[in-house]
Amino acid sequence: MKIITLLNEKGGVGKTTVATHIAAGLAIRGNRVILVDADPQGHATIAFGLSKEPGFYDLIVRNAPFQDVLRPVPPEKFNVPDEAKDTKGQLLLVPSNIETRSIAGNISDAFTVLKRFTQLRNAIDYIIFDTSPTPSLLHSSIYMATDGIIYPTKCEAWSFDGLRESFNHKDQFSPIRQQYNLSDIRVLGIVPTMFRKKTLEHQDNLRRLRETFGDLVWKPLPVRTIWAEVASARRTVFSLAPGTATEADAWGLVDQLEAQIYEHE
Ligand SMILES: Nc1ncnc2c1ncn2[C@@H]1O[C@H](COP(=O)(O)OP(=O)(O)OP(=O)(O)O)[C@@H](O)[C@H]1O
Ligand SMILES: [Mg+2]
Repeated sequence: MKIITLLNEKGGVGKTTVATHIAAGLAIRGNRVILVDADPQGHATIAFGLSKEPGFYDLIVRNAPFQDVLRPVPPEKFNVPDEAKDTKGQLLLVPSNIETRSIAGNISDAFTVLKRFTQLRNAIDYIIFDTSPTPSLLHSSIYMATDGIIYPTKCEAWSFDGLRESFNHKDQFSPIRQQYNLSDIRVLGIVPTMFRKKTLEHQDNLRRLRETFGDLVWKPLPVRTIWAEVASARRTVFSLAPGTATEADAWGLVDQLEAQIYEHE
């Protein structure tokens, strides 16, 4: 089981979009996947047309059993309509609502998130955390639980600032993870999102990103209206826009993640 977190302390950079599509793509490819909506905004929950509810809060604070909080995402919401009924894997969601904000104030043990999810070690292939842009003690607990992080970012100054702050916070957890014999958190990728290839500012910033992070920078996701359309339709591009360039971009995310994971196994 791998635990992977989408993070950037700048809002609106594509964390939820990338989280939902990676989770869906891995499930279509036959994996058992749990997407954890760790953001009180509940966007990963409504992304699939499910109801906002305190699933994550109940799991972490009330110690609720997994079967009470996990919500199966119907395959027709995330897979190609013709192939939905034959979907090989499974996508389950831990939903969120505003009560997720209260989790930080109600956990005294930084290992609560880790302990809860390692109970699923043999039943699940991937756990994907979608996080809020505002750092909190809940983020600390996720830093103790995660194996790797993917950082979506716009190629713009304030998103880069969010990225820097996020890297600093990750690094602060290295000593404590070492103390508990946990390996360092792996940076799995930096995803340039909403990229405008004809805009000089974006080109320059992408170059700077590549100079700093080299091969960790994934292929940019071009800005495209279809991403907003799939959010409105409560579906994924796999389900709503098969055969389009955007669907290929979304598979590119899953391919790059799998390449990173296999490379280090
Ligand atoms: N490549 C893209 N092109 C155009 N629009 C996009 C693209 N990726 C995401 N979007 C849209 O941008 C908006 C913000 O994306 P998203 O909600 O995924 O960001 P976020 O980082 O999760 O935001 P928050 O920090 O509020 O949680 C959404 O409306 C989404 O549909
Ligand atoms: Mg989000």
